[in-house]
Amino acid sequence: MTRTLWIEASPKGEQSLSSAAARAFVDAAGEARIGTVDHLDLWSDDVLTFNREAALMKFAPLFGETPTSRQQAVWRRVEAEIERVRRCDRVVVSAPMWNWSIPAPLKNWIDVVVQPLLSFTLDGDGRHVGTLGEGRPLHLVLTRSSAYDGRHPELRDFQLPYLEYVVTLLGYAVDSMVFEPTTRWTAQEREQFRRESVTAARQWGAALPSRSSMWARDS
Ligand SMILES: Cc1cc2nc3c(=O)[nH]c(=O)nc-3n(C[C@H](O)[C@H](O)[C@H](O)COP(=O)(O)O)c2cc1C
Repeated sequence: MTRTLWIEASPKGEQSLSSAAARAFVDAAGEARIGTVDHLDLWSDDVLTFNREAALMKFAPLFGETPTSRQQAVWRRVEAEIERVRRCDRVVVSAPMWNWSIPAPLKNWIDVVVQPLLSFTLDGDGRHVGTLGEGRPLHLVLTRSSAYDGRHPELRDFQLPYLEYVVTLLGYAVDSMVFEPTTRWTAQEREQFRRESVTAARQWGAALPSRSSMWARDS
């Protein structure tokens, strides 16, 4: 059974542009490519926080330290989160830009799932090799409210390049869609842009290649 993980990083629910675009993308991609949707709302209470115990546990084996039972317990939850991602044939990450980067809960999720040996390793030359994605598709649906196309050199984008870097490191084949409304628009202009963005996301989803032509994988 095909399974898609949707990581939703905007807290704005129905009012979120990135969430609306991601939903349109998933709906248009259709049952055959998407299958069951595992939806992770990063602002919900039950998301694992990568805390002090997890940070100490991350390098405990490397430093020959004996982990405490609390550290072992949090680590079982880290492993379970990574397995949740691994079970999915496709991942969709929708996120707004916050302060030139990403909302803190998305960074926390990255801190949970990016783990040496569990989700990536190093080859003989010390280069990262992703062991989580194995070439499977990951789609970034991103929003911001300024133009980051070079027209304003003082605006630096740490959202798209950072996310593309991390998910590529994990072994995913990434493609991205970026929407840039501006706060200078009227309510009507913003609404018009939202409609156009949702339409574009729907077209992107409908044009997805079928599963077999996108990647080869034992099933
Ligand atoms: C806390 C916060 C920080 C933001 N920082 C930026 C920023 O650095 N650059 C930018 O272009 N937009 C920034 N924005 C605007 C959002 O990225 C923009 O409104 C986006 O379209 C919201 O997407 P959403 O509706 O999916 O949440 C920020 C918004 C918030 C709430």
